[in-house]
Amino acid sequence: MPVTPQQLIQRKQQERPIVVLTAWDYAIAQILDQTGVDVILVGDSLAMVALGYETTLPITLDEMLHHAKAVRRGVKNALLVVDLPFLSYQESPQQALHSAGRVLKETGAQAVKLEGGYPAIAETVSRLVQAGIPVMGHVGLTPQSVRQLGFKQQGKSPEASERILSEAIALEQAGAFAIVIEHVPSDLALNITQKLTIPTIGIGAGGHCDGQVLVTSDVLGLSTWKPPFAKSYLDLHDLIKNAVQAFADEVRSHQFPES
Ligand code: KIV
Repeated sequence: MPVTPQQLIQRKQQERPIVVLTAWDYAIAQILDQTGVDVILVGDSLAMVALGYETTLPITLDEMLHHAKAVRRGVKNALLVVDLPFLSYQESPQQALHSAGRVLKETGAQAVKLEGGYPAIAETVSRLVQAGIPVMGHVGLTPQSVRQLGFKQQGKSPEASERILSEAIALEQAGAFAIVIEHVPSDLALNITQKLTIPTIGIGAGGHCDGQVLVTSDVLGLSTWKPPFAKSYLDLHDLIKNAVQAFADEVRSHQFPES
């Protein structure tokens, strides 16, 4: 049976860390799913890591749906969550319902994620949840607000820290089943994690969250740029280059194929 939002909430109570990774195609999704990752996120970061944009802003809902359908075909066990991209939900709760509905109907994903908090986004989350759509929130550094926030750490001042905490609480009250906390000081992430009954999933937010997420191309060493808090467990960029070079050398020297 696939992982459910309810099981993630239980995992927080049991203090069993939740593992979340992003995927943008069938092959990657299949590998992640086979390793037992709990949640696979079709993050809008795919705009940058798979489509070559400088920010997540240009990606459209149709492009997200296209990638999410491919990922869906590779995922059997993990909870599949899809990001609603920039301006596919901010206009009104009705717009959000339409976009999230398309994600669930057309891709078979179990949940959506959207960025931001109090008050408009919390209201939108509440509307989606009332319609039976599980929602993951996202606070702190929200990349869809890059033109306002940059890619900088958030929540450093007492006021900013208080605002992010109240956004997280508002999202929980609106019915979100989990919240990503991105690039904030670890004591703020700890405070949020202790105040919420739903799990927090950290990225660049220290080690006190109920789970951790990274962008898979950073983990694999495939990204040309990665944020300071990301960790690579492999240098796939160089491995691919070496393999391609070896193939090209063998073709040029008539070693491949063996005749
Ligand atoms: O788009 C994404 O990949 C994300 C993760 C960084 C949480 O939102």
